[in-house]
Amino acid sequence: MNIKEEMKKRRTFAIISHPDAGKTTMTEKMLLFGNLIRSAGTVKGKKSGKFATSDWMEIEKQRGISVTSSVMNFPYKDYQVNILDTPGHEDFSEDTYRTLTAVDSVVMIIDGTKGIEAQTIKLFKVCKMRGIPIFTFINKMDREGRDPFELMEEIEETLNIETYPITWPAGMGKRFLGVFDRNHEQFVHFTGNESEEYIPYSELDQRTDITEHAEFSDAQDEMLLLEEAGDSFDMDKVLKGDQTPVFFGSALAPFGVETFFNTFIDMAPEPAPRRSTEGTVSPDHEEFSGFIFKIQANMNPQHRDRIAFVRVCSGKFERGMNVTLSRTGKTFKLAQSQQFVASSRGTVEEGYAGDIIGIYDPNVYRIGDTIVTGRRNFEYDELPQFPPELFKKVTAKNVMKAKQFKKGLEQLVQEGAIQLFKRYRFEDYIIGAVGELQYEVFDYRMKNEYNVEIELTSIGERIPRWLKPEQVDESLFDERNMLVQDREGNPLVLFKNDFSLRWFIDKNPDIELIDLFEVNQYDQAYE
Ligand code: G4P
Repeated sequence: MNIKEEMKKRRTFAIISHPDAGKTTMTEKMLLFGNLIRSAGTVKGKKSGKFATSDWMEIEKQRGISVTSSVMNFPYKDYQVNILDTPGHEDFSEDTYRTLTAVDSVVMIIDGTKGIEAQTIKLFKVCKMRGIPIFTFINKMDREGRDPFELMEEIEETLNIETYPITWPAGMGKRFLGVFDRNHEQFVHFTGNESEEYIPYSELDQRTDITEHAEFSDAQDEMLLLEEAGDSFDMDKVLKGDQTPVFFGSALAPFGVETFFNTFIDMAPEPAPRRSTEGTVSPDHEEFSGFIFKIQANMNPQHRDRIAFVRVCSGKFERGMNVTLSRTGKTFKLAQSQQFVASSRGTVEEGYAGDIIGIYDPNVYRIGDTIVTGRRNFEYDELPQFPPELFKKVTAKNVMKAKQFKKGLEQLVQEGAIQLFKRYRFEDYIIGAVGELQYEVFDYRMKNEYNVEIELTSIGERIPRWLKPEQVDESLFDERNMLVQDREGNPLVLFKNDFSLRWFIDKNPDIELIDLFEVNQYDQAYE
């Protein structure tokens, strides 16, 4: 099979949700389809409670699939499926966001009893910023939940995206009868005992056992309303991330999951061309290229190794091939490579656009690096910087270790493990992270890799807003609203809370504050 045909089979996506919406349960069902696991309940291990902060590997072991097994891949029908995990709970970090730069589509799981929750919004914003197609699964229909119309309205209003229900539920909770599948014109009947029955619309009049239910006729009326007043399906909008196809079901039952997965996998886009310094690169270009979106240290306790996660963007990856690291122009042989499946790592011999390959990192790669073969030497667009939320001052416990401290700090910042800020006129180092786990990992690595004990002093959750350099007026800021510079020297303010932010805007209407999530690209703000 040639490069183009292989590439077209790839479906690379991430599942996003607020904790407890059902991401793990859904992932597990998908792995069952792919015959990767044989029984439900295998992909667990996150209810382990508190972990020992001193040992990162222990954290990983206890968290099981949520941290280490970041990529799952399996063949399904004519497709090659790559699922990238986006850690949630305390694991939430920049990795979670960066993972979204390596996928071609996203499945958003919403708990039908709760609706849109905080973490969904954060992850959604990143998808929207990058124009990633989003497919929505409204979960837990086996429980008494919220009105489907209300949920759709909430998605539209909170997330500013059109919705198009591909399936529509008849009843919920104990009265849950099944879903209409508008795409295949059939009713998927929920029989309750892990099986579902598919009845074409044309045969429904013979099934009074189903149609006699009030839930059925109510849903039929609702469907008419959707046909008349709802948005029409628009694949172009879906591909741009402006419309989301919506499905209803229960990941646990499971119900509606197969209908969802089969429709999703057919509709979801294959790998798209990507922008680079040399213009757009087609995924079926014959020369290999890819970029590094994540680096993880110590994945294997036996060999203190570092693994760089590469998203293949074009050509064919082959084990042992020579690649050039565009940033330095140096050439390496990729002797060790691996693919990640559940908790074991297998050796991978080849890969195509859309695939995720783990390569051994002898401490040379950085997040965002491009690797290429052939004579072309280009770089893919820089990964965006994501606004951190938690901020801490960091110092070395022992002043004699200042040199190692600086080295460790510099390297870990470069690697993208943490973001570094400097206060105006102070020598303070302030680090920012998206989640608490990033600090634990940072602390652990400073101790183990650089032999420096550090002291972290929280300055709390802050709201970062970037400023135009010409509008910086130091007299306006203090401990509450702290003026700092990022790694590039760009000024920003760490606002104490929403109240301080609003108060500031009120008093200083002329000062433009930039929210990284609201602009498409960080750079754009400084053009
Ligand atoms: P997450 O990865 O998004 O955090 O969620 P996870 O799949 O772990 O699901 C969170 C809880 O919701 C689990 O229950 C799970 O069994 C339940 N759940 C998932 N999908 C459905 C569904 O379709 N219907 C219903 N009724 N429940 C669902 P738990 O009691 O917290 O965990 P466990 O003890 O069952 O493992």
